Amino acid sequence: MDPQATRLEPRRPAPGSLSFVIVFLLAIGLVGGLAASVSAAPALPSCRLADTLTKYRSYADWRRSLLDPTYRLASTYRPGDLRSTSSAGLNGGYYVRRLAIADLKSMAASARAAGARFLVQSAFRSYATQKATFRYWVRVHGWAVAVKESARPGHSEHQLGTALDFRGYNGSAPWNYTDWAATKVGGWLQRNAWRHGFLMSYPKGKTAVTCYQYEPWHYRYMGRTKAARIHATGLTLREYLWREQNGSTPTPTPTPSPTPTRTPTPTPTPTPTPTPTPTPTAIPG
Ligand code: DAL
Ligand code: ZN
Repeated sequence: MDPQATRLEPRRPAPGSLSFVIVFLLAIGLVGGLAASVSAAPALPSCRLADTLTKYRSYADWRRSLLDPTYRLASTYRPGDLRSTSSAGLNGGYYVRRLAIADLKSMAASARAAGARFLVQSAFRSYATQKATFRYWVRVHGWAVAVKESARPGHSEHQLGTALDFRGYNGSAPWNYTDWAATKVGGWLQRNAWRHGFLMSYPKGKTAVTCYQYEPWHYRYMGRTKAARIHATGLTLREYLWREQNGSTPTPTPTPSPTPTRTPTPTPTPTPTPTPTPTPTAIPG
């Protein structure tokens, strides 16, 4: 037997002795305390319609503002550093905060080099514009559907100036496709946007936690570091931001190491199947 190992073995109290009982009780207390602190973060709230000002709502809070059917920004919220998307080498007429331009530009260039060139379909929307947008969708689909596909004024990530809707360079509005992520451009963004700091806010099959229908075209800029961190957790933005603002920042789920070598992924075939209902192209989602 290795004497060194014996020496380093922590001394275990003999069962039945007083010290053993004390250590046992302390352990139970510690575990209990730990469990209590883990479960202290309130559960993700349901998708309740309300008009509560979100906790983090200053212009400097763009990375942590939680917006959903309950939480909103002030109607006067309008960042002062909006820049045209043309400065990112994309089509103009749309605006995002200056802090997102460099990464938007790099993402546009990478996508183009990969044969997945995209355009901006929508970007910053003021409170007033969002009001008109929501009203429009209510007229088209009725209120019950509209609240699942469009944010009420004050509740849209587009008002932050850091959210964009994308479309393929060739093709129609992304919501005219059965699943825009199945197109070359939509698929490229789904796989790569996070590397450039952008996250899909409303992924497929997550309506119960995001509160909105699947929107493969809607991305929010979070900065490269934070986007990578959130991507690694596998959580949706709403889940992550909720936990973050309640003091329990999630840690990434461990990835198998070493990192497997990259294998070429098959290019998804575009499925330009227009939805049967005539959906407008001018009004953003
Ligand atoms: N379509 C998303 C939910 C928005 O209106 O911001
Ligand atoms: Zn959008």
